[in-house]
Amino acid sequence: MIDQATEERIKALIDQAESPREKAVDVMFILQRHYGYLSDTALEEGAALLGLTPLELEELATFYDFIYRRPVGRYVIHACDGVVCWMFHASGIFSYLCERLGVEPGEVTPDGLFTVLPTSCLGDCHHAPSMLINGRFYGSLTPDKVDRVLDELRREASGPVPRR
Ligand code: FES
Repeated sequence: MIDQATEERIKALIDQAESPREKAVDVMFILQRHYGYLSDTALEEGAALLGLTPLELEELATFYDFIYRRPVGRYVIHACDGVVCWMFHASGIFSYLCERLGVEPGEVTPDGLFTVLPTSCLGDCHHAPSMLINGRFYGSLTPDKVDRVLDELRREASGPVPRR
């Protein structure tokens, strides 16, 4: 259940809109930050605040690659499978990521650190193949570069927890 401050923040956001539905994505992101993913509880709370049914909000949630309906790792790796990246062997990079981390797409690694998801064009085509991890782009990927990025993130994760 969300705390009062979060609920008030969401209500204030909705009040700014002509129609509550306009703020549905923003509301889902707030709830996702709160819960770590858009859980069923979050979906129901968000729908109630927006005046939508949970099914209506679910339809919007499943449309967006960056709304997670299942628990995800601390680092969500959005590996591009758009046309340009595909031409630069993105499918090989995607398979390599899953193999190195020992997960299927959407699963969380046992250490809780990583989830790998396929994503449509990230707008980083000039660095194909590309991936986006927690807001950071990594392009011109090769298996070696993927290994370096994963090592870097593991080192980062062993340090202090960053503020969200
Ligand atoms: S196709 Fe991959 S970033 Fe555009």
